[in-house]
Amino acid sequence: MLTRRPRRNRKSAVIRQMVQETLLTVDDFIFPLFIIEGENIKEEIPSMPGIYRYTLDHLMVEIGECLDLGIKSFCLFPSVKEDKKDRAATEGSNPEGIYQVALSSIKEKYPEAMLMTDVAMDPYSSDGHDGIVEDGKILNDESLEVLGKMALAQAKAGADIIGPSDMMDGRIGYIREVLDDNGYTDVSIMAYSAKYASAFYGPFRDALNSAPKFGDKKTYQMDPANVKEALIEAELDYVEGADFLMVKPALSYLDIIKALSDNFDIPITAYNVSGEYAMLKAAAQNGWLENDKTMMEMLLSIKRAGASAILTYFAKEAAVLLKK
Ligand code: PBG
Repeated sequence: MLTRRPRRNRKSAVIRQMVQETLLTVDDFIFPLFIIEGENIKEEIPSMPGIYRYTLDHLMVEIGECLDLGIKSFCLFPSVKEDKKDRAATEGSNPEGIYQVALSSIKEKYPEAMLMTDVAMDPYSSDGHDGIVEDGKILNDESLEVLGKMALAQAKAGADIIGPSDMMDGRIGYIREVLDDNGYTDVSIMAYSAKYASAFYGPFRDALNSAPKFGDKKTYQMDPANVKEALIEAELDYVEGADFLMVKPALSYLDIIKALSDNFDIPITAYNVSGEYAMLKAAAQNGWLENDKTMMEMLLSIKRAGASAILTYFAKEAAVLLKK
């Protein structure tokens, strides 16, 4: 006779729930939202069905609905008109720019909403890169100054967590110092620590029209082949003062999430990126995969790997399901 029968712990829904090791809740989600200039516009992003670019008026309504569903954390991304872009991404630190105005307006209407930002030059850069470009090269230390200004403008506008996604060396320490010197010691930093040069960002670049105008991002974003390098990036971000370490993308990088969560005692987060969202939506629209079950399995796997929070375009849909 078999003494050990693991199936006994799967024999009923009650027991299965009792022995569940990972629990996904709405508190785990950070919902990325796209904002555009203007009024009364809500346009769907073709490669991201169900995800929209909103003008501020519509964005307010969307955030209100999300709060009602229990989603309390949001990450904003701006879609900027070409004529506002320049080499130094100046618009990114404009206190009157859409991004800063959106942050302060949301905070005013919904003080309970947790707002995370994105610090990188690409949405505002005429080169479509995350740093200043000179002779085809991305300058590191010169870019830090721009990133510091962006982070400070965002903190002034009411951001709770600053999210540098640019992958310049030394940016966490630089931004931490700028924030502290200006009295924003309570503003947190979620470092995009292990951000890979990934093909999964395609739909996001469609959404923001932010694709690089030349070349690729391989001189600053990481090589998908590497894990030790992720530990070095994480170590630097930790030492430089990051409060959270993020892995991006999530699903093809679950081993990286695990490696970081095994090696660091601050919260690890993951970005379930646009291409991962688009893949499931496309398959579901074709009837090839079941949307809801596949979505929950994806999100659960990211949490099981060690992420304590997940940036995901599925946040709203998943919140509705979790409420049932
Ligand atoms: C900007 C940024 C990108 C994403 C988040 N912040 C794109 C990029 O680095 O090219 C991608 C997010 C997604 O694909 O959902 N630096």
